[in-house]
Amino acid sequence: MYLIISLSILFVTVLTAIEKQKCRCDVLAPIYNSLQCKIWCRQGSCVTKYNCAQSLYMIEKKQNQCYYNGKFYNISEEFPKRYPNPAGTHLCKYECQVSPIGPYFSITNNCIRSDKSFDRCLFEIINNIDYMYTYSAPIFSKDATLTCPLYWFEYRQINYAGDNCLLKEKCCRYGNLLIKKNKSFKINSLNANCTCSCPPFVTCYV
Ligand SMILES: *[C@@H]1O[C@H](CO)[C@@H](O)[C@H](O)[C@H]1NC(C)=O
Ligand SMILES: *[C@@H]1O[C@H](CO)[C@@H](O)[C@H](O)[C@H]1NC(C)=O
Ligand SMILES: *[C@@H]1O[C@H](CO)[C@@H](O)[C@H](O)[C@H]1NC(C)=O
Repeated sequence: MYLIISLSILFVTVLTAIEKQKCRCDVLAPIYNSLQCKIWCRQGSCVTKYNCAQSLYMIEKKQNQCYYNGKFYNISEEFPKRYPNPAGTHLCKYECQVSPIGPYFSITNNCIRSDKSFDRCLFEIINNIDYMYTYSAPIFSKDATLTCPLYWFEYRQINYAGDNCLLKEKCCRYGNLLIKKNKSFKINSLNANCTCSCPPFVTCYV
Protein backbone atom coordinates (compact mmCIF):
# COMPACT_ATOMS: atom_id res chain seq x y z
CA MET A 1 0.00 0.00 0.00
CA TYR A 2 2.73 2.42 1.04
CA LEU A 3 4.67 1.55 -2.11
CA ILE A 4 1.62 2.23 -4.27
CA ILE A 5 1.10 5.60 -2.61
CA SER A 6 4.79 6.49 -3.03
CA LEU A 7 4.73 5.40 -6.64
CA SER A 8 1.66 7.44 -7.39
CA ILE A 9 3.20 10.46 -5.66
CA LEU A 10 6.31 9.96 -7.76
CA PHE A 11 4.18 9.64 -10.88
CA VAL A 12 2.28 12.82 -10.07
CA THR A 13 5.57 14.62 -9.35
CA VAL A 14 7.01 13.53 -12.70
CA LEU A 15 3.82 14.55 -14.48
CA THR A 16 3.88 17.92 -12.73
CA ALA A 17 7.50 18.42 -13.81
CA ILE A 18 6.59 17.66 -17.43
CA GLU A 19 3.47 19.76 -17.12
CA LYS A 20 5.57 22.68 -15.87
CA GLN A 21 7.78 22.55 -18.96
CA LYS A 22 5.02 22.43 -21.52
CA CYS A 23 4.95 26.07 -22.55
CA ARG A 24 7.55 27.60 -24.81
CA CYS A 25 8.01 30.54 -22.45
CA ASP A 26 8.79 28.43 -19.39
CA VAL A 27 12.57 28.59 -19.77
CA LEU A 28 12.63 32.38 -19.96
CA ALA A 29 9.91 33.02 -17.37
CA PRO A 30 12.28 33.46 -14.36
CA ILE A 31 14.19 36.10 -16.33
CA TYR A 32 11.06 37.97 -17.38
CA ASN A 33 9.69 37.77 -13.85
CA SER A 34 12.86 39.22 -12.39
CA LEU A 35 12.71 42.14 -14.82
CA GLN A 36 9.00 42.43 -14.06
CA CYS A 37 8.08 42.32 -17.72
CA LYS A 38 4.38 42.26 -18.49
CA ILE A 39 2.65 39.22 -19.89
CA TRP A 40 1.68 40.34 -23.36
CA CYS A 41 0.04 37.32 -25.02
CA ARG A 42 -1.32 33.95 -24.05
CA GLN A 43 -2.38 30.90 -25.97
CA GLY A 44 -4.64 28.81 -23.78
CA SER A 45 -2.90 28.55 -20.42
CA CYS A 46 0.53 29.36 -21.87
CA VAL A 47 2.17 32.75 -22.00
CA THR A 48 3.62 33.26 -25.49
CA LYS A 49 5.10 36.74 -25.24
CA TYR A 50 6.26 39.33 -22.71
CA ASN A 51 6.77 43.06 -22.95
CA CYS A 52 9.73 44.47 -21.05
CA ALA A 53 9.49 48.06 -22.27
CA GLN A 54 7.96 49.21 -18.97
CA SER A 55 10.38 47.29 -16.74
CA LEU A 56 11.88 49.71 -14.21
CA TYR A 57 15.32 48.27 -14.93
CA MET A 58 15.00 48.60 -18.71
CA ILE A 59 13.92 52.21 -18.31
CA GLU A 60 16.22 53.35 -15.51
CA LYS A 61 19.25 51.04 -15.49
CA LYS A 62 21.88 52.57 -13.20
CA GLN A 63 25.64 52.15 -13.16
CA ASN A 64 25.94 52.67 -9.41
CA GLN A 65 22.97 50.72 -8.08
CA CYS A 66 22.07 47.05 -8.21
CA TYR A 67 18.68 45.88 -9.40
CA TYR A 68 16.65 42.91 -8.27
CA ASN A 69 12.95 42.17 -8.63
CA GLY A 70 11.63 45.64 -9.18
CA LYS A 71 13.93 47.51 -6.80
CA PHE A 72 17.29 49.31 -6.94
CA TYR A 73 19.80 48.81 -4.13
CA ASN A 74 22.51 51.30 -3.13
CA ILE A 75 26.12 50.25 -2.57
CA SER A 76 26.36 48.22 0.67
CA GLU A 77 22.61 47.90 0.86
CA GLU A 78 21.51 44.34 1.63
CA PHE A 79 18.69 42.20 0.31
CA PRO A 80 15.92 42.17 2.90
CA LYS A 81 15.87 38.37 2.88
CA ARG A 82 18.60 35.75 3.12
CA TYR A 83 19.24 33.63 0.07
CA PRO A 84 21.16 30.34 -0.31
CA ASN A 85 24.91 30.53 -0.88
CA PRO A 86 26.24 28.86 -4.06
CA ALA A 87 27.13 25.67 -2.18
CA GLY A 88 23.60 25.46 -0.78
CA THR A 89 24.83 25.02 2.80
CA HIS A 90 23.91 28.41 4.27
CA LEU A 91 21.40 31.19 3.91
CA CYS A 92 23.29 34.45 3.52
CA LYS A 93 22.79 38.15 3.20
CA TYR A 94 23.75 39.68 -0.14
CA GLU A 95 24.83 43.26 -0.60
CA CYS A 96 25.20 45.54 -3.56
CA GLN A 97 28.78 46.26 -4.70
CA VAL A 98 30.08 48.23 -7.64
CA SER A 99 33.00 47.20 -9.84
CA PRO A 100 34.47 49.05 -12.84
CA ILE A 101 32.20 47.01 -15.11
CA GLY A 102 29.09 47.70 -13.09
CA PRO A 103 27.04 46.80 -10.06
CA TYR A 104 26.63 43.26 -8.75
CA PHE A 105 25.37 41.47 -5.66
CA SER A 106 28.06 40.02 -3.47
CA ILE A 107 27.67 37.43 -0.74
CA THR A 108 28.45 38.62 2.81
CA ASN A 109 29.71 36.67 5.84
CA ASN A 110 26.34 37.17 7.46
CA CYS A 111 25.14 33.58 7.06
CA ILE A 112 23.18 30.98 8.95
CA ARG A 113 23.35 27.22 8.41
CA SER A 114 20.63 25.70 6.29
CA ASP A 115 20.22 22.76 3.99
CA LYS A 116 17.71 24.55 1.82
CA SER A 117 18.36 23.50 -1.74
CA PHE A 118 20.35 25.85 -3.88
CA ASP A 119 18.54 27.83 -6.52
CA ARG A 120 21.28 28.41 -9.08
CA CYS A 121 18.91 30.33 -11.31
CA LEU A 122 18.60 33.09 -8.76
CA PHE A 123 22.32 33.91 -9.04
CA GLU A 124 22.28 33.56 -12.78
CA ILE A 125 19.56 36.12 -12.94
CA ILE A 126 20.62 38.66 -10.35
CA ASN A 127 24.21 38.88 -11.53
CA ASN A 128 23.62 38.75 -15.28
CA ILE A 129 21.09 41.48 -15.52
CA ASP A 130 23.39 43.73 -17.60
CA TYR A 131 23.10 41.19 -20.40
CA MET A 132 19.35 41.58 -20.40
CA TYR A 133 19.63 45.31 -20.84
CA THR A 134 21.64 44.79 -24.04
CA TYR A 135 19.32 42.01 -25.27
CA SER A 136 22.12 39.46 -25.24
CA ALA A 137 21.33 35.82 -25.90
CA PRO A 138 20.70 33.47 -22.96
CA ILE A 139 22.40 30.14 -23.77
CA PHE A 140 20.78 27.07 -22.27
CA SER A 141 21.99 23.50 -22.20
CA LYS A 142 19.97 21.09 -24.35
CA ASP A 143 20.31 18.22 -21.93
CA ALA A 144 20.23 19.94 -18.56
CA THR A 145 17.14 19.93 -16.41
CA LEU A 146 18.10 23.37 -15.08
CA THR A 147 15.99 26.08 -16.53
CA CYS A 148 18.46 28.92 -16.17
CA PRO A 149 21.07 29.91 -18.73
CA LEU A 150 24.55 28.40 -18.69
CA TYR A 151 25.76 31.85 -19.72
CA TRP A 152 24.80 34.89 -21.77
CA PHE A 153 26.30 35.92 -25.09
CA GLU A 154 26.51 39.56 -26.14
CA TYR A 155 25.56 40.51 -29.64
CA ARG A 156 28.17 39.77 -32.31
CA GLN A 157 27.46 39.87 -35.98
CA ILE A 158 25.85 36.65 -37.17
CA ASN A 159 24.93 35.16 -40.49
CA TYR A 160 21.33 36.35 -40.30
CA ALA A 161 20.10 39.53 -41.86
CA GLY A 162 17.31 40.11 -39.36
CA ASP A 163 13.64 40.46 -40.08
CA ASN A 164 11.52 43.37 -41.06
CA CYS A 165 9.18 43.65 -38.10
CA LEU A 166 6.31 46.01 -38.63
CA LEU A 167 5.42 45.57 -35.00
CA LYS A 168 8.71 45.52 -33.15
CA GLU A 169 6.95 44.22 -30.04
CA LYS A 170 6.01 41.01 -31.82
CA CYS A 171 9.62 40.09 -32.51
CA CYS A 172 12.67 39.00 -30.55
CA ARG A 173 15.78 41.09 -30.19
CA TYR A 174 19.38 39.97 -30.23
CA GLY A 175 21.29 43.19 -29.68
CA ASN A 176 19.50 45.46 -32.15
CA LEU A 177 18.75 42.65 -34.59
CA LEU A 178 15.07 41.79 -34.89
CA ILE A 179 13.94 38.19 -35.36
CA LYS A 180 10.41 37.11 -36.15
CA LYS A 181 8.57 34.65 -33.95
CA ASN A 182 9.54 31.00 -34.58
CA LYS A 183 12.56 31.90 -36.74
CA SER A 184 15.92 30.36 -35.91
CA PHE A 185 19.54 31.29 -36.44
CA LYS A 186 22.91 29.90 -35.47
CA ILE A 187 25.71 31.46 -33.46
CA ASN A 188 28.51 29.58 -35.17
CA SER A 189 31.27 30.35 -32.69
CA LEU A 190 29.24 28.61 -29.97
CA ASN A 191 27.48 26.12 -32.22
CA ALA A 192 24.29 27.42 -30.63
CA ASN A 193 20.87 27.23 -32.21
CA CYS A 194 18.71 30.21 -31.27
CA THR A 195 14.99 30.56 -31.82
CA CYS A 196 12.52 33.32 -31.21
CA SER A 197 10.18 31.22 -29.06
CA CYS A 198 9.13 33.72 -26.44
CA PRO A 199 9.81 37.36 -27.32
CA PRO A 200 11.52 39.66 -26.61
CA PHE A 201 14.59 37.50 -25.74
CA VAL A 202 15.78 34.73 -28.00
CA THR A 203 16.19 31.22 -26.58
CA CYS A 204 19.46 29.50 -27.50
CA TYR A 205 20.67 25.96 -26.91
CA VAL A 206 24.11 24.43 -27.06
C1 LIG B 1 20.11 55.35 -1.87
O1 LIG B 1 20.89 56.47 -2.27
C2 LIG B 1 20.10 57.59 -2.67
C3 LIG B 1 21.04 58.65 -3.27
O2 LIG B 1 22.29 58.62 -2.68
C4 LIG B 1 19.32 58.09 -1.46
O3 LIG B 1 18.53 59.19 -1.82
C5 LIG B 1 18.44 56.95 -0.96
O4 LIG B 1 17.75 57.34 0.21
C6 LIG B 1 19.25 55.70 -0.67
N1 LIG B 1 18.33 54.60 -0.37
C7 LIG B 1 18.50 53.78 0.66
C8 LIG B 1 17.46 52.72 0.83
O5 LIG B 1 19.46 53.84 1.40
C1 LIG C 1 5.01 29.57 -33.73
O1 LIG C 1 4.94 28.17 -33.44
C2 LIG C 1 3.93 27.83 -32.51
C3 LIG C 1 4.09 26.36 -32.12
O2 LIG C 1 4.43 25.58 -33.21
C4 LIG C 1 2.58 28.17 -33.11
O3 LIG C 1 1.55 27.83 -32.21
C5 LIG C 1 2.52 29.65 -33.44
O4 LIG C 1 1.32 29.99 -34.08
C6 LIG C 1 3.69 30.08 -34.31
N1 LIG C 1 3.72 31.54 -34.38
C7 LIG C 1 3.93 32.20 -35.50
C8 LIG C 1 3.88 33.70 -35.41
O5 LIG C 1 4.19 31.64 -36.55
C1 LIG D 1 17.29 25.10 -34.71
O1 LIG D 1 16.45 24.16 -34.11
C2 LIG D 1 15.11 24.19 -34.61
C3 LIG D 1 14.26 23.27 -33.74
O2 LIG D 1 14.96 22.12 -33.37
C4 LIG D 1 15.12 23.78 -36.08
O3 LIG D 1 13.81 23.79 -36.59
C5 LIG D 1 15.96 24.80 -36.83
O4 LIG D 1 16.08 24.45 -38.17
C6 LIG D 1 17.36 24.94 -36.22
N1 LIG D 1 17.96 26.11 -36.83
C7 LIG D 1 19.21 26.16 -37.23
C8 LIG D 1 19.65 27.43 -37.86
O5 LIG D 1 19.97 25.21 -37.11
